[in-house]
Amino acid sequence: MASKSKILVLGGTGYIGKFIVKASAEAGHPTFALVRETTLSHPEKSKLIETFKTSGVTLLYGDINDHESLVKAIKQVDVVISTVGGQQIDDQVKVIAAIKEVGNIKRFLPSEFGVDVDHQSAVEPAASFFNKKVKIRRAIEAEGIPHTFICSYAFAGYYLPTLGQENVTAPPRDKVVVLGDGNVKGVYVTEEDVATYTIKAVDDPRTLNKTLHIRLPANTLTFNELVSLWENKINTTLHKIYIPEHQLLKNIQESPFPANFLLALGHCMLVKDVCTNYEIDPSSAVEASEIYPEVEYTTVDNYLNAFV
Ligand SMILES: NC(=O)c1ccc[n+]([C@@H]2O[C@H](COP(=O)([O-])OP(=O)(O)OC[C@H]3O[C@@H](n4cnc5c(N)ncnc54)[C@H](OP(=O)(O)O)[C@@H]3O)[C@@H](O)[C@H]2O)c1
Repeated sequence: MASKSKILVLGGTGYIGKFIVKASAEAGHPTFALVRETTLSHPEKSKLIETFKTSGVTLLYGDINDHESLVKAIKQVDVVISTVGGQQIDDQVKVIAAIKEVGNIKRFLPSEFGVDVDHQSAVEPAASFFNKKVKIRRAIEAEGIPHTFICSYAFAGYYLPTLGQENVTAPPRDKVVVLGDGNVKGVYVTEEDVATYTIKAVDDPRTLNKTLHIRLPANTLTFNELVSLWENKINTTLHKIYIPEHQLLKNIQESPFPANFLLALGHCMLVKDVCTNYEIDPSSAVEASEIYPEVEYTTVDNYLNAFV
């Protein structure tokens, strides 16, 4: 059996990165995390870094803006997964340059982990954000770097604990705001499942130079279906406040950042149908639950039980 690829995670101390580091180590991949030295003294992140060490993860100190540190780290591995944050999407051109210089990387997974940016019709400020990810895709392809783009849609932990409601910390029990008519399908995936499928993809020839859509059938739900699932669990009918598209667009224009960004994401996912308004084209993409039927992913239905 071929040995498991050595994986370097850039951004492993971030929100989704920590799940990817854990899944990589648990799957038996020699796992490396590039960590900024300043982060070692961060109270929460230093604890996380300790858990990396006890899981056998090799820490490499560096910064994606420090070319030498990046090249040195990349030389030690076969696969690079970037989970850098929204502010660093453009900076990934530096990762591409380092990968080209090193020359031996079998797969690069840039920081994506959302909707398919080649199939979106977002309004600003989400549109510019998605376009940064598109530029990184095109740069990777132009350089001929073997890659996989991970489309994991909405992180469950971001949306489900509040049903996407603003300024609340628990799912609604009396009223719920519905963007549009609520009949557009979104896709919700737990962070653990995002990480499991991502790590499965790195050594899989079926995902080489393709987009992996984690478009899980049981978790592909309209907002009305999501609300109905929740209503059944709490045995209550919520009062629905519908925000028609023209009002939502006005709210986006009138809100400051980051509220306008979050509303624009909601508009694109829950009104413009960015998750499901296109077929997955087998010449350029695969769906995770189809190629990895052995993964027992967490359903939205089960996930919501924790909040009852
Ligand atoms: N689908 C969804 O619902 C959803 C939700 C959120 C995010 N996302 C996407 O997921 C991806 C990751 O976002 P996130 O929110 O997980 O990111 P995040 O929490 O902001 O983490 C960013 C990571 O990048 C590291 N980093 C920042 N600057 C760096 C530098 N110069 N050199 C090296 N490392 C650096 C940070 O290190 P430190 O720990 O040292 O700061 C941190 O580990 C993004 O593409 C984002 O768009 C998707």
